[in-house]
Formats: sequence, C-alpha cells, structure tokens
Amino acid sequence: MLRFTGVGLRYGAPARGSGPGFAGGAAPETLRDLTFTLSEGSFTWLLGPSGAGKTSVLRLMQCVLRPTRGEVEVLGVAVSRARRRDLALLRRRIGAVHQDFRLLPHLSAFDNVALPLRLAGRSESVLRAEVAELLAWVGLAGKQHALPAELSGGEQQRVAIARAVIARPALLVADEPTGNLDAAQARRLLALLIELNRIGTTVVVATHNEELLLRHPAPVLRLEAGRLVGAAGAEPRPAEAPGGEPGRDAPAPAPAGAPPDDARAPAARVSGFRHAGA
Ligand SMILES: Nc1ncnc2c1ncn2[C@@H]1O[C@H](COP(=O)(O)OP(=O)(O)O)[C@@H](O)[C@H]1O
Ligand SMILES: [Mg+2]
Repeated sequence: MLRFTGVGLRYGAPARGSGPGFAGGAAPETLRDLTFTLSEGSFTWLLGPSGAGKTSVLRLMQCVLRPTRGEVEVLGVAVSRARRRDLALLRRRIGAVHQDFRLLPHLSAFDNVALPLRLAGRSESVLRAEVAELLAWVGLAGKQHALPAELSGGEQQRVAIARAVIARPALLVADEPTGNLDAAQARRLLALLIELNRIGTTVVVATHNEELLLRHPAPVLRLEAGRLVGAAGAEPRPAEAPGGEPGRDAPAPAPAGAPPDDARAPAARVSGFRHAGA
C-alpha cells in the first residue's frame, strides 16, 4: 500500500527533522499538498505535462527522496521516520525504471538485469535461466553480453525494464518507460507490466503514451504544476482514460491486437518463485 498525506517537496530544502533552525528555502514547492492512497496490487497511471512533478512523485515512492512535509508511506513504512538502513531494505522491494535508464556502465546487459537477484542472494544457476528468459522476452537474447554503451536507447530502456521487474518487486514505478520504444515494443512492455500487476505487484507508470492508456484503462493520478488535479483525496478516480469505466474491479476486455497467450510475460510463467509480498 502506498499513501501520500499532505505531501510537499521543495528541492534544496533539507528533509524535515534534519536539523534545528531550518527556516525553509524561498523556492516554491515542487510538489504541494499531495494526498492519495493506492491500494496493494493496484495499477495506476501518472499523467501530467513535462515539469509537473511526475518524476519527483516517483522518486518519493522509491524512497530515494523524503518529503519536505507530510508523510509518504510505502509498503507499510512511514518514510520520513524510517532509518536509513530500513529504507535501504525497503528499496530492495521496489523496482524502478528511470527516465534516463541508470544502467551500470561497466556491467553487461545480463549482469545489469541479474543484479537485483544477486543482491537477493539467489543462486547463479537459478538466476541464469531467469535472466536469459526475460532478456529474450524483451527481444535482447543476442545482446546479453553487450555493455550499455553498445546498446541503442531503446535497447537500454528494455534492459532497464528487465532489471526493474526481474525480482518481482512488491512495488514497481516506471518513469516514461516507453519513451524510446516503438509501438510494438511499447505494447510488449505493457503486457509485462500487466502480468507483473496480475501476480500482485503494485504498479505506477508515468507516461505520455495515450495509446497505452487506451489499451489498459486504469485509475489515473494527474499532476499539474506539482498538484494533483481531478482526483480528490483518497483513491484516484477510476479510469479517466477514454474508452470506458473499467477500473480494477472490472478488467478491460483484451484489446484487439493484445499479445497472444504464448506471448505472456515470463513473470507469469516462471514457477517456484515467491512474490516479495507487500
Ligand atoms: N534535483 C532537482 N533539483 C531542483 N529542481 C528539480 C530537481 N528535479 C526536478 N526539479 C524541478 O521540479 C519540477 C518537477 O520536475 P519533475 O518531477 O522532473 O517533473 P516531470 O517528471 O513531470 O517532468 C521541475 O520544475 C524541475 O525543474
Ligand atoms: Mg519526468
């Protein structure tokens, strides 16, 4: 579960409680008065024009930033009161696709994707098969040994996506994950996110890609100039996306052109894997 309560964020200001006498900067808040709750296992689109604060919201959800005021609660942990060590552990249960990928430049595609599993202590023999399967699924079977610098933007983005989902995180946040992908790849990515969501991961995706929204209508958080618009308080309104009412309770029918069953994402097929829980 993910809860924002009266959250404000001002860049440059020390996090609350980090020292006496701090009067706050003169800069306006980047995020203001954000209050909403996303339930465990939900799928949410985060929309808004460039500069609205989408990346900042996702960084708060990843616990790499603390709010300047208010409270962010992620997977049962109140972030502003948590110890660094606890936040580090919490972050291992969160998968993130960054707008700028953030792959480790000295590691191959394979090793970048394997990293979360190695951190989780999984055996090499088990992770080898899982990483290879997922890389193949995102169309990079032949690029396992390539370094990020040897990959195109779209290929790097797919490595970043594979790395974010490989450990079946309890929470996945994806920042414009289709920005460098063609339409077919974007649909494949969406199928992967939907599968991950189906096995229990809470998913939040910032996007400008209207086609994706049409294919998977889900609740929307819409930001404008650092404020939430169109969603009053708690749950974001069900599917503001064009094309219907759906929401979580009434899953949308598979859109025409949806991937056939044999294209189901590896997340749904790999057995013997325990979900990280939420
Ligand atoms: N590290 C930072 N330091 C100072 N200002 C920042 C930083 N990151 C983002 N901002 C500012 O916060 C605002 C929201 O940015 P961002 O969250 O990246 O929006 P979006 O992802 O919707 O484009 C922008 O005005 C941006 O310039
Ligand atoms: Mg952004």
